[in-house]
Amino acid sequence: MVRIYMSTNIQQQIGESLKEAFGAVLGLSPSEIDPVIRHAQNADIADFQANGAMALGKRHGQSPRELAEKVVGVVDFGTFADVPEVAGPGFINIRISDGTITSLVEEMDTDALGVALDDNPHAVAIDLCGVNVAKQLHVGHLRATIIGDSIARMYERVGRKVFRENHLGDWGLPIAMVLEQLLSSGVNLDTLSLEDLNSAYKNAQLVAKDELRGEKTAKAMQAGPHRLIEIEEQNTGAIAAQTAAKKLLNALQQGDESLLKDWQKLIDCTMKSVYESLDLLHVNIGPENNRGESFYCDRLGGVVDSFIERGLAEEDGGAIVVRFKNRERPMLIRKSDGGFLYATTDLAAIKFRTQELRADRVVYVVDARQRDHFKDLFDAAGLIGWDKTPDGATSDLVHVPFGSVLGADKSPLKTRSGSSVTLSSLLHEAVERGTCEVIRRSKDPKSPTHGMDEDELRTIGRQIGIGAIKYADLSNDLVRDYVFDMDRMVAFEGNTGPYIQYACARISSLIRGGDLQKDAPLQIVEAQERALALKLLQYNTVLHDAIAHLEPHRLCTWLHELTEAFSAFYQSCPVLKSEDGGTKRSRLRLADITRRVIIDGLGVLGIECPDKM
Ligand code: ARG
Repeated sequence: MVRIYMSTNIQQQIGESLKEAFGAVLGLSPSEIDPVIRHAQNADIADFQANGAMALGKRHGQSPRELAEKVVGVVDFGTFADVPEVAGPGFINIRISDGTITSLVEEMDTDALGVALDDNPHAVAIDLCGVNVAKQLHVGHLRATIIGDSIARMYERVGRKVFRENHLGDWGLPIAMVLEQLLSSGVNLDTLSLEDLNSAYKNAQLVAKDELRGEKTAKAMQAGPHRLIEIEEQNTGAIAAQTAAKKLLNALQQGDESLLKDWQKLIDCTMKSVYESLDLLHVNIGPENNRGESFYCDRLGGVVDSFIERGLAEEDGGAIVVRFKNRERPMLIRKSDGGFLYATTDLAAIKFRTQELRADRVVYVVDARQRDHFKDLFDAAGLIGWDKTPDGATSDLVHVPFGSVLGADKSPLKTRSGSSVTLSSLLHEAVERGTCEVIRRSKDPKSPTHGMDEDELRTIGRQIGIGAIKYADLSNDLVRDYVFDMDRMVAFEGNTGPYIQYACARISSLIRGGDLQKDAPLQIVEAQERALALKLLQYNTVLHDAIAHLEPHRLCTWLHELTEAFSAFYQSCPVLKSEDGGTKRSRLRLADITRRVIIDGLGVLGIECPDKM
């Protein structure tokens, strides 16, 4: 019998034995067999069900029922599972043995919680947040931040070295235009407010929007602000303000010290408010993660030269473009006036990430509307070999596109007055909602939060409000637009963050009320104990799957199922009230492992777990 390692998934394990058995009966190689293993419908009868006899029987001219019986006659699960039984037209019912479940849960009960580490020595670079200087963080950046941070945490959890790269929009014509606006209107940059910056940004955009044709093209291409300005600027030619901004950008690029100081003030002013939001959000992104567009500004000429030298770029009406074999759309890397583009910077960044950070996976958590940009970027990087790490590994370049955040009316989220919602107002509202709920509950003398001081209650309220937003954001298929519904998100019932946090806090209370003994023998026998244990044993597989597919929602769904499995267990298996001492100690341990797995899993999503709620 093959030894079962924690990292092996149980389903896979029984699958291997069944493949061999089907192969032996049908005279086929096990690799040709799909035993079709599913979770059993009725946990009282079996844990898993293999339905492969249906299709295989038909294909090989045998009655599925007879085939299933033959397979059951030869299959060898050793002590891993009980002897299987055939049901109905040919389903094979499998019950994992109590001994197997008990020893696997026992093995899982360490700090690692059964999670296998990935020893790949390369780094992973995650492009996240991506705020633009002089602009408020808005809900789109909320997603790039929350999703990016949770993907980073997933990789860190399995032991990978991660670089969180905040590719700030802090350079180029848009910023130069803002600075030009501010300087020419005599604003004191030392007392600059975010509002001053925002209105300067809007004014600068208005100037850039003068030319209708440019706007139309940009809209047709669904371009973001960078492209919008780039394209309009190409079409428009020299508008006075732009000429001035270009001059300013040029001086900045030449290292004009006083201008660079002014520019830094814009960055500082923007980032001060960004960090406030990031702090509230409890994400691991700080100044050390800033490697914005300005970081690459000296490398852009080199990027274009490299493409030209290798014959991978050509001149087109004075501009330099990279062409792709399989599509019309070229990638513009230098404008006819010599200026560089968003794409040029991204090429410099990709080279830096694979070759200097040695990342063999670069993940871009960016709005779905930039899909074409990333397709071009990855293909261009492939052409020139910047998808290779110094030791020759090919780096996986992935765009994780996410959808928009919509209001109740299904159009982009707006405030009542119609302006777009700032991130900070949204976060404060969520925190307020969480806090009100916690304070309300703490009034009940039976609540574990009863008598806590206001600061403590506010901390819990923040963890709930922010947890609610994060969970709502992560628990859907990322690419889908989602409706921002604060009432639903902060509810303590349903598939929400607070529901899971609350369940976890209740387990903590349970454990506080008992005498947990970490080395008490586990006895996993009752159907609901088994169901909970089997769920727990999936943690490693689910986490690794979520990473492989870059889909945090897999982890959310599973954590929700785990929480439900715990409540089903708790309803039918008394813990503290259990008459038998051994049973009580075993159940307390099972509760404790569940609690730790929930805390760990939510932690991987970036969600905190209050001890009391
Ligand atoms: N600042 C950009 C925007 O708001 C997002 C940056 C994404 N990252 C990148 N490497 N292009 O559209």
